[in-house]
Amino acid sequence: MARLVIVSNRVAIPEEGGKAVAAGGLAVAVKEAFTAYEGLWFGWSGNVVEDPSTEPKLIDRGRVSYAVVDLSPQDHREYYSGFANRALWPIMHYRLGLGAFSRSDYAGYQRVNRIFARALANLVEPDDIIWVHDYHLLPLASELRGLGIANPIGYFHHIPWPAADVFNTLPASGDLLRGIADYDLIGLQTDPDVHNLTRNLIDELRAIPLGGGSLMVDGRRTRIRSFPIGIDVAGFKEAAENAGSNRTVRETMAGLRTRKLLIGVDRLDYSKGVPERMEAVERFFASNPDQRSNVVYIQITPKSRTEVPEYEELSREVNETVGHINGTLGEPNWTPIQYVTKAYPRPVLAGLYRAARVGLVTPMRDGMNLVAKEYVVAQSDEDPGVLVLSKFAGAARQLPEALLVNPYDRFEVAEAIRTALYMPRGERLERWKPMLERMTREDVDWWARNFMSELENFRTIEREPP
Ligand code: UDP
Ligand code: G6P
Repeated sequence: MARLVIVSNRVAIPEEGGKAVAAGGLAVAVKEAFTAYEGLWFGWSGNVVEDPSTEPKLIDRGRVSYAVVDLSPQDHREYYSGFANRALWPIMHYRLGLGAFSRSDYAGYQRVNRIFARALANLVEPDDIIWVHDYHLLPLASELRGLGIANPIGYFHHIPWPAADVFNTLPASGDLLRGIADYDLIGLQTDPDVHNLTRNLIDELRAIPLGGGSLMVDGRRTRIRSFPIGIDVAGFKEAAENAGSNRTVRETMAGLRTRKLLIGVDRLDYSKGVPERMEAVERFFASNPDQRSNVVYIQITPKSRTEVPEYEELSREVNETVGHINGTLGEPNWTPIQYVTKAYPRPVLAGLYRAARVGLVTPMRDGMNLVAKEYVVAQSDEDPGVLVLSKFAGAARQLPEALLVNPYDRFEVAEAIRTALYMPRGERLERWKPMLERMTREDVDWWARNFMSELENFRTIEREPP
C-alpha cells in the first residue's frame, strides 16, 4: 500500500501514548485525516536552536512516523515570523495595510523550503504520495522536483486565496505563482478561492485552461479544485455529550446559573475579528439594557505568533477593549466579558460550545473556520444554540442556515446576537438540523478521501504512456 507523506510547518506530534496537542485548524484536521492512512508526517519540530542539524529527528508512533527538523533563530525569524506570517498571512487575508515585505525574509523563506526539501527527499520512497499543507511551503514542490522527486505532490491551502490585485501586491508574487504551479493538485477551501488563483495563473503566467480545473502552466499540468475541510463529527459529538464530567465545563455551567452564554473561541489573530466582536457585544448590551446581567460572553483566545509585532499590538488592543467594556458596563455581581488567553483541550471546548446559547464566529476573513463547524456539531438535538457566522469565513458556504453577518458592521452583529438570544426553539432546530447533516456528510474523512483519490488519480494519469 502506498505511503502518505504529509508535510506541514506545524506538526502535532502525540506525546508517548497520549494525545497530540492541537495548534490551530491545520494540525487538528491533518491529525484526524491521518487516522485513515499510514505514513510519515514531516515538518518543523517547533524548536529554535543555534546550528540546527540538517538531519531530521525521527519519531515512531506506530502507523504514523514523524520526521522533524529544528530551525535556527534566523530561519525562524525570516521564514516563519517574517515572510510566512508578516507578508503572506496578511495579504492572503486581504489585509494590505498589515503586510510587511522584506527581501531578506523572502530569502529566508526560500532557504527553509530548500532545507525542508533536502531533508525530506532522503526519506521519500518511489511509491509515496506527498501531500503538502499551507502557505509556509508554496515553493516546496519546485524544490523537490529540482532534487529529482517524481512522486505525485499535492498541496492544500488552508487559508483564503485572495483576488489577483491583492495577491500581486506581494513583490514575490510571480515567483510564488510559478512555484505553486509545480504541484500536481492544488486544493483550496472554496470555489471563490479557486476562481482567484486560476484567474491569476491565467493572467500572470499565461496558463492554458484544459477544462475540469486542469491548467497547463509552462508545459506542466496542474489541477485546482475546492476541497472544504471538515471535522471529526462522530468524535466531537461524543466529546460534547460526555463533557459534563469535565470539571472546567461543570464549574463554568454552574457559575452561569440562569444566565445565557455567548461563546467565542479563536487564536489571538487579527483575522478573527475579536475586538470588533467585543464592540458588537458592547453595542448589544448598550441597546438591550434589560439583558445586562442575563447574558455572559466568554471569549477563549490562546495567544498566537507573539513574536510578530502586529500580534503583540492586537493583544494590547483586546486587553484595552475588554477592560473598557467590563469597566463601563460591569457590576459587582456581573462581568460582561470573561476573556481567557489560555488554550483549552477540544473536549473542554466541546462542552462549552454545548452550554452556549450563541456561538460567535465573526472573522474578518477566514479560509474555513473549524470552530464554526465544531459549535454546530456540539449542540444537543433537544435544545440547540444559534451560530452567528461571518459571511467572510469559508465555512459560511456550507452553513447558510447560520445567522450570517458582516463582521465590519457592529450594528448588524449586535442585532444578530439579539435575534439569536430570542430565537424560538422550533426555528433553532430548523436551522441546526440541515447544518448538522451537512457537517456529518462533509466531514474530515470525506475531505481527506476526496483529496487523496484525486491525487492518486494523478499518478495513474502520469504513468500512462504518452
Ligand atoms: N482550539 C483548541 N484550543 C483552544 C482554541 C482552539 O484546541 O483553546 C482548536 C479549535 O477547537 C479548532 C482549532 O483550534 O479545532 C482552530 O481552528 P480554526 O479553523 O477555527 O482556526 P485557525 O486557528 O486554524 O485559524
Ligand atoms: C492556521 C494556519 C496553520 C497554522 C495555524 C496555527 O490554522 O492555517 O498553518 O498552523 O493557524 O498557527 P501557527 O503559526 O501557530 O502554526
